[in-house]
Amino acid sequence: MIKRGKFIVFEGPDGCGKSTIAKMIRNELLDIEIDCVLTREPGGTKTGEKIRDILLNKDNIISASTEALLMASARAQHIEELIKPSLNLGKQVLCDRFVVSSLVYQGIGRNLGINRVEKLNEFAVDICPDLTIFFDLDYETALGRRNIRKTSDRMEDMDDDFHYKIHEGYKRIYSEYKEKYNIIRIDSSDKIEKVFCTAFDKVKEILEV
Ligand code: TMP
Repeated sequence: MIKRGKFIVFEGPDGCGKSTIAKMIRNELLDIEIDCVLTREPGGTKTGEKIRDILLNKDNIISASTEALLMASARAQHIEELIKPSLNLGKQVLCDRFVVSSLVYQGIGRNLGINRVEKLNEFAVDICPDLTIFFDLDYETALGRRNIRKTSDRMEDMDDDFHYKIHEGYKRIYSEYKEKYNIIRIDSSDKIEKVFCTAFDKVKEILEV
């Protein structure tokens, strides 16, 4: 019988470095011949990536509730089409963002309320991460990293107040929901190699390798 894979999620505010670390972890796992897929939200499937384009395109006017629904729609497709089938084949699934992003960005950032966004996601989600790594770094450093990027999307283009809310929102979700979503916090302000080593140790622990 195939042993079901583990579902590992990478979370944090824009500019926290999670996507770079997720890629490094994927490469390292493949090097040691551990079958894994790296995917992302919103996106991860053909349909989900189309929804991502709508969500992140600066020309689009999208209300807060529409935004939350589209995030959840892309997630529902992602779970059914990619995440669950991969886990059932024994692959380890590494996912750049998941439900916690909706709780923070839509629940707190857009003021929809954490409970309402969580309820909305109940319709789309029937799995829980085995591990969620929250990459935490100080607000100023994240801001600096965002500012040196040449392009920005509809979310990154939000004002500093919004991003500050997101920053504080992650800390709140971590303190109140860490058991529910299996969240651990990593200090992401260290050098990238150090952050990678800390994150990779946690991943190996969960994968028992
Ligand atoms: P990314 O730049 O990390 O790929 O994420 C895309 C943007 O989408 C990022 O600004 C966070 C946002 N987002 C939400 O607002 N809610 C969600 O549920 C997810 C998955 C992402």
